[in-house]
Amino acid sequence: MAHLKLGVLVSGRGSNLQALIAACADTFYPAEIVLVVANKPDAKGLDRARKAGIVTAVVEHGDFPDRETFDKAVDAHLRDAGVEWVCLAGFMRLLSSWFVETWYDRIINIHPSLLPAFKGIDAHAQAIAAGVKLSGCSVHIVRTEIDAGPILVQAAVPLLPDDTEDSLAERILTVEHQCYPLAVRLIAEGRVRIDGDTAIVAMPPDIGDQIISPLKS
Ligand code: GAR
Repeated sequence: MAHLKLGVLVSGRGSNLQALIAACADTFYPAEIVLVVANKPDAKGLDRARKAGIVTAVVEHGDFPDRETFDKAVDAHLRDAGVEWVCLAGFMRLLSSWFVETWYDRIINIHPSLLPAFKGIDAHAQAIAAGVKLSGCSVHIVRTEIDAGPILVQAAVPLLPDDTEDSLAERILTVEHQCYPLAVRLIAEGRVRIDGDTAIVAMPPDIGDQIISPLKS
């Protein structure tokens, strides 16, 4: 089976990008990263991509008069590289509805909460303030509304009484790094059917972690 060609968009550290790079290093993994785009020239994710021999592009949002013009420049890079699916990995820019419509059902994002709870940039602080006892991460198909769209995979972690935003973020990150490669695999293996606002996922039998949902059947 041909590898699904991914374009990964980053703004910063790029640890989720690193998890995808690691997954793609396995020849049996059904996807490959053909391009990494950053909206900031100093994004650490760019170094990670270069080290892995992946083509990179920097599209600085400050150089563009508006969101859609910026998005069109990103889109041109993605098309040139033959990208089939777009992965947002810590990409801290809202995408225009033009971009979301152009790549409809072919953009995924990872967010550090159990959506639809705690959307937005301060998900960890929101979870702590709400006093929830479990938080986690979600990988979802991107729609124009922020942190919304059919959910593919979620994983939960405990939120402990003395957690800070940093300690919670670190705990959630460990499951993010499992969930993002898994979600890409599910897409690449044709295990995802999107039905309006929800995704129906056929989980492969080798996934054993009970806190990752959906469970295997
Ligand atoms: C991750 O925790 C990701 O879930 C979050 O930014 C971090 C990026 O880390 N994304 C969002 O909050 C999107 N709404 P990384 O650059 O190390 O992958």
